Amino acid sequence: MSEAVSYENHGPIAILSINNPPVNALGLAVRQGLKAGIERAESDNHALVVLIIASGRTFPAGADIREFGKPPVNPSLPDVVRRIEACSKPVIAALHGTALGGGFEVALAAHYRIADKTARIGLPEVNLGILPGAGGTQRTTRIAGAKATLDLATGGKPIGADKAKALGLIDVISGDDLKDAAIAYAHELIASNAAPRPSGARSEGLLNAAENTKAINDTAGIIAKRARGQFAPFRIVECVDAALTLPIEDGLAFEREQFLKCMETPQRQGMIHAFFAERSCTKTPEASRAAPRPLNQIAVIGGGTMGAGITVAALNAGLPVVMVERDTESIARGQANVEKVYDAMVKKGRMDAATKAKRMALYTPATDYAAMSDSDLIIEAVFENIEVKQDVFRQLDQTAKPGAVLATNTSYLDVDAIANVTSRPQDVIGLHFFSPANIMKLLEIVVPSNPADDAVATGFALAKKLKKTPVRAANHDGFIGNRIYKAYGLCATYMMEDGASPYAIDKAIYDFGYPIGIFQVHDLAGMDISWANRKRLAANRNPAERYSAVQDKLCEAGHFGQKTGRGMYVYPEGMRMGEENPDVLQVISEEQARLGISPRDFTADDIMRRYMAAMVNEGAKVLQEGVALRPSDIDVVALYGYGFPRYRGGPMKYADMYGLDNLLADLREFEAEDAHFWKPAQLLVDLVANGRSFEDLNKDS
Ligand code: CAA
Ligand code: NAI
Repeated sequence: MSEAVSYENHGPIAILSINNPPVNALGLAVRQGLKAGIERAESDNHALVVLIIASGRTFPAGADIREFGKPPVNPSLPDVVRRIEACSKPVIAALHGTALGGGFEVALAAHYRIADKTARIGLPEVNLGILPGAGGTQRTTRIAGAKATLDLATGGKPIGADKAKALGLIDVISGDDLKDAAIAYAHELIASNAAPRPSGARSEGLLNAAENTKAINDTAGIIAKRARGQFAPFRIVECVDAALTLPIEDGLAFEREQFLKCMETPQRQGMIHAFFAERSCTKTPEASRAAPRPLNQIAVIGGGTMGAGITVAALNAGLPVVMVERDTESIARGQANVEKVYDAMVKKGRMDAATKAKRMALYTPATDYAAMSDSDLIIEAVFENIEVKQDVFRQLDQTAKPGAVLATNTSYLDVDAIANVTSRPQDVIGLHFFSPANIMKLLEIVVPSNPADDAVATGFALAKKLKKTPVRAANHDGFIGNRIYKAYGLCATYMMEDGASPYAIDKAIYDFGYPIGIFQVHDLAGMDISWANRKRLAANRNPAERYSAVQDKLCEAGHFGQKTGRGMYVYPEGMRMGEENPDVLQVISEEQARLGISPRDFTADDIMRRYMAAMVNEGAKVLQEGVALRPSDIDVVALYGYGFPRYRGGPMKYADMYGLDNLLADLREFEAEDAHFWKPAQLLVDLVANGRSFEDLNKDS
């Protein structure tokens, strides 16, 4: 037997115990061990029943994702699953932790399933751009019907043991000691002379044909919207349909064929890259050197858009929050901003009044800094003005308890200039949340010149508590996200001035997979905000930088976006998605005439080549300047903060797949139009010269 699967005789029970930390992924050694274990149990005269159980934190959480894309090595998971199902003696799977993907498929191959109360089962492959390739769609449908299978496999979210039992996917829920309960269950099966019960031969789930057909149609409609542009979800629907109509062997073959097609897509590469990227972003030099400080109570200064959103995020995580505003009127508004979020949830039926009350019980409004004297972490979210922020930090220096971490939520300002007004710059970091802060997953942790390691580690600990995805950024104007956003925003504006209609640009971006186009984002965020920012930076603007005045002109005429009912689009009463704004086209053509630009045509491909080249080039500059630790951190920022389509992995992954040499060639081509804007990052030039990729840099980091 392999070390990854041990074999033990426990009276008449052969126990196969999987041991492959951390998540018992079904790598080669586990697959070999399971197959050998079943064969041994079959020829073992002492064994009447086989029990598959796992040690450590979980029943296998799936196939070993690291093996994907490498040449397959036998036995394959479908072979192992087949072997388990065909065992001549009853096989029980005992589940705890997260029995996901291939792990759940192994459980389905067993003839009986017992799980502890906290176990979760699921088919999350869709999140990796693939589908359950070892019978998951076929066997689940046969037991639990099309709807349950489609929910699990296209939604990708696990369900708890109770629900799984109600669906027939688990037979018994155990008490605290799973192994004891599984052994008792095995004895029961022996006593009742239970025979092997292959899931593939079951049919309860197929009985209600009308309900199954409805589930197929409903899901096809849902994913047409939710999974726009993706490949795997549509194949999953076809697989479940096949389970309803084909004999099991044909259904399994069909599913395998679809699985292999998914494996070949760039979407699979993109999504698996995203999976590992969001795990590596928590690995930072500071976290490796220091543990976080205690984090039992936080304070938020400012109860506006961001302050209220951050407060809700913390209250939802069970963290007590003191909110401090300028005066009684402002704090009343701040509290109302918080309650408004909960009231909307109560109104939509997503929260009950009791839960709202429980959350609000953790909230303390105040107008006095003394109220924050017990706070472990204080987040400033006042106006984006350096003097106002410095004033807040001077006061915090006087009043916050020693060792409290002091954080600013500034979007662009210099965190050192804020830290250095205090006598404790080592305690100051940036925590850049995204709006709406109670929803958006990204949190940039901004590391100024000399913070203490444990202050930075505390920022990461906060992210974990709030279930946010943290990315470390050095202190640079716009950090990672807003800096790159600014670069591709400029690129879009230039294309608009050169002849691409903003609506064609937005459509190309939408078709690429973004939820909305960049000009729609401008309208949502308010064009007046970027207008103010341009005015702030005007004095120091590099004269070599091309400047488009189209949006300034629009702002001067009151086109601020959704808030004024007109921006790049117009929003007739009640309309969420706007219509084309003729004034915009007028201003563009006036500007073209003023600047002597002859408008030219851009195809969607032209647009996206430029858009992505601008994004990746700025990303490369962010890397070469050390603002981001690794390319995959930039991908995480784009995915979680800016709506980059996850199935493309992120801009740096996209660039690797596009070919860095191709991307550099694009930049060289565009350089002829505007040498300042399109100058290739030196890092990119060097990577191409050395035949290296961003993925190589990820591995180095
Ligand atoms: N293969 C390889 N490594 C895996 C893995 C997998 N299936 N699942 C997790 N890991 C690794 C993680 O990368 C991480 O490694 P590092 O410590 O080096 O960063 C480590 O295991 C722990 O993972 P998490 O940090 O994510 O731990 P967690 O407790 O927060 O979450 C989990 C655990 C819920 C299992 C989560 O890791 C997860 O969702 N894993 C993926 C599950 C999945 O998608 N399974 C389906 C795989 S595809 C499949 O099975 C196809 C098929 O049908 C043939
Ligand atoms: P806002 O204008 O909605 O809220 C600011 C709040 O700060 C107001 O309620 C104001 O009364 C309060 N305030 C001002 N001075 C104060 C003081 N001295 N003491 C206590 N309270 C004070 O602004 P918003 O949008 O919430 O932005 C706050 C910060 O977050 C800014 O630095 C901004 O750049 C940043 N940010 C904003 C994002 C956004 O999308 N709105 C996204 C990410 C960061």
